[in-house]
Amino acid sequence: MKKSIWILTILLPVISACQPVEEQITLLSNEPMTFDLPLGIDAPPPVPENNPMTPAKVELGRQLFFDGRLSSDGTISCATCHNPAMGFTDGRATSMGTQAQVGGRSAPSIINLAYAQGGIFWDGRAASLEEQAIGPIANPIEMSNTHENAVARLNTIPGYREQFEHVFGSPEVTIENVGKAIAAFERTIIDGNSPWDRFIKGEASALSEEATRGWELFQTKARCILCHAGPNLTTNQFNNIGVGFDRPEPDLGRYDFTGVEGDQGRFKTPTLRALRYTSPYMHDGSEATLEDVIEYYNRGGNPNPYLDELIMPLGLTEQEKAALLALLDAFEGEGWMVTAPIQLPEEP
Ligand code: HEC
Ligand code: HEC
Repeated sequence: MKKSIWILTILLPVISACQPVEEQITLLSNEPMTFDLPLGIDAPPPVPENNPMTPAKVELGRQLFFDGRLSSDGTISCATCHNPAMGFTDGRATSMGTQAQVGGRSAPSIINLAYAQGGIFWDGRAASLEEQAIGPIANPIEMSNTHENAVARLNTIPGYREQFEHVFGSPEVTIENVGKAIAAFERTIIDGNSPWDRFIKGEASALSEEATRGWELFQTKARCILCHAGPNLTTNQFNNIGVGFDRPEPDLGRYDFTGVEGDQGRFKTPTLRALRYTSPYMHDGSEATLEDVIEYYNRGGNPNPYLDELIMPLGLTEQEKAALLALLDAFEGEGWMVTAPIQLPEEP
């Protein structure tokens, strides 16, 4: 019994690797899909009516997400900066695109972004995952391509044309449909079933004593829950906690997008799931470790005229800091890890 399972596990990937990718793909259904949600994530993600998720579309999106041919020089894919092994970040303070160009902000994780409300990006400037997904392709310091070139190249690849036909009803690759497929894939990257989720659902022993103390502090003295609340540990607001204001010309974040007085230095309050994978932290990667993040909050952030009134010195003891740290680790769940496709559709 055991032996046959072993043989299957070894053989299946081999068998499927021998098939051309496009043949595998059309085997996947293009009917709207349901999928199992991890514990703690109770509702399926909101999905736009004009972009239902289907197994075939999600798989197409996965391939595009890992395909460097969307970039001008063929070297940079979405996964270069949003690497699953690093919690869909790049491990760098600020990201590096084609020709080693460095941007001003840190690559945020994609995990649970399906549940984001109020805008995508650190400053919320993109309204939907569909809209966001095609931005990096034409961003001069990310993939530095044009949409026309990216689409023209994909249109030369029969394996993609077949999949676009199957998924969208026309073999013609369009930039809108590239965005739709990538967005559908991103919506499957969901983290839950962490020790903290199990604790919230009534399993008292799921958190260690220390993490349980951390959870009490999180909701009281440490004040974290005022911004990091709900199943995704964010209120989906934009807040100024002072990050970057120790430098002469701080990034003004949301203000540069809205122009609204008071938005200066406001950034999206991110989820706190899978943090161990996503260092360094904050929009500019200025905090290297979670210990540093806790120190940062403990001293009340960087003073600035727009600092959120919820941010103030906390007076945490060493024990309390350790308890908070144990809690941050207990937010770490499962279900979000995806692997790169074994093979991408080949150019003729
Ligand atoms: C060169 C590195 C780089 C590449 C390549 C890249 N990104 Fe990003 N990504 C970033 C950075 C940096 C940000 C944050 C920018 C900001 O908020 O202003 C970001 C933000 C995002 C966000 C918003 C996350 C959030 O929390 O709001 C999503 C979604 C995303 N990228 C998806 C993609 C997709 C899809 C691709 C491929 C088409 C891609 N990225 C390619 C660096 C990159
Ligand atoms: C006033 C709202 C607010 C409060 C209170 C708050 N946070 Fe945050 N948190 C934010 C915002 C906004 C960011 C992103 C800031 C930036 O990058 O400029 C952030 C970022 C973080 C990050 C980095 C996440 C990443 O992916 O880079 C961690 C970790 C974190 N907070 C933990 C905590 C803890 C622990 C507490 C309590 C001690 C706390 N936060 C209290 C709003 C808040």
